[in-house]
Amino acid sequence: MQGIADFMGKDHDRLDGLFKEFQSKKVTEPEKAQKSFFDFKSGLERHIVWEEEILFPIFEERTGMRGGPTNVMRTEHVQIKELLGGIYDKILKSIFQTETLESQIISILSSHNVKEENVLYPWIDQTLSLEEIERTLQNIQGMGLKKQEKENPVKLGKIYG
Ligand SMILES: [Fe+2]
Ligand SMILES: [Fe+2]
Repeated sequence: MQGIADFMGKDHDRLDGLFKEFQSKKVTEPEKAQKSFFDFKSGLERHIVWEEEILFPIFEERTGMRGGPTNVMRTEHVQIKELLGGIYDKILKSIFQTETLESQIISILSSHNVKEENVLYPWIDQTLSLEEIERTLQNIQGMGLKKQEKENPVKLGKIYG
């Protein structure tokens, strides 16, 4: 059975791919780059909602640690969302000189994702029963899917397969 670490790690990889697409197409295909960035931004914001509303509360409740690791993650989410907004404002005006913001977001995200993948997600997989993991994944998928994805199982399979 697929666990939390596997599911969320795959979503990190998918988002990394969209960001790389954005960076590589900025000069040659700005419209495609824009689209990749918009997908990256909405996907990452949705991913953050899954963590803050479903996964972190599980960790906080079971460990009793409310001011610990999840607090650090939440603070980094605020910074990540600020940087996303900064790039978004520029891209919207077709300004693609966003290198400084890009390196800032990469720097935060890479260590942030490693901490989640190596510590937080595996901890959740080890602590929850199989039924609880299954229910958690169902909650994530039920909460976060956009209408268009619900109507398009092919795309859904690509993301979650
Ligand atoms: Fe996160
Ligand atoms: Fe994450």
